Amino acid sequence: MKKSTLIQLGSVVAASVLVASCSTLTAPFKEADPRWADFKSWTKVTELEPSTGNPTGFLGGLHQGDEGYRDVYVNDIAKAVLMGSAPYNYPAGSVIVKEQFASKSDWEEGRKPSHTVSVKVAASDSLSKDNWIWADSYKGTAGESAFCSGCHSIAAKDDYVFTHGDFLATQ
Ligand code: HEC
Repeated sequence: MKKSTLIQLGSVVAASVLVASCSTLTAPFKEADPRWADFKSWTKVTELEPSTGNPTGFLGGLHQGDEGYRDVYVNDIAKAVLMGSAPYNYPAGSVIVKEQFASKSDWEEGRKPSHTVSVKVAASDSLSKDNWIWADSYKGTAGESAFCSGCHSIAAKDDYVFTHGDFLATQ
């Protein structure tokens, strides 16, 4: 084989290694679900006051626990129901995002937020028994969750949502 052919072969191999390693690097990257990707532009229902402590008594260390600071954002589909009063019955397509921080200083500086997301789906959605699906992070996948829905079922009479108009009025 001529030297120039060898060099050509070598660069083809090098290029394919590069392509292969790039695709390995990019494979785990995932965009946030479009149903909540832009939640920061939604209505922030905790605008006046973030939630902290354990106002419902049911937190059990979840959502960054008693020390955590939490904001709640609601999309336009859910807004009127959430900000209203009982009985609550969210339309399909309602999405509520909870942005949670470990401490007051993290909240003040917007440091290391984590997210949980509740999505109301149509009664025919096979993913869900209670018409809600749940995601445990911004880039997470929403699906049925006995863990999330089990605790939120404490608020079943308010359609599985704790942070609603009547609750906010007591804050
Ligand atoms: C141990 C009970 C518990 C579990 C488990 C739990 N939550 Fe919550 N969640 C709460 C409570 C209580 C609130 C009310 C606000 C507060 O105290 O900050 C809340 C609030 C929320 C909110 C804001 C809207 C609302 O309902 O008030 C979202 C969104 C949410 N949770 C999603 C989730 C998701 C997703 C999961 C599973 C990954 C989950 N939660 C698991 C107790 C729980």
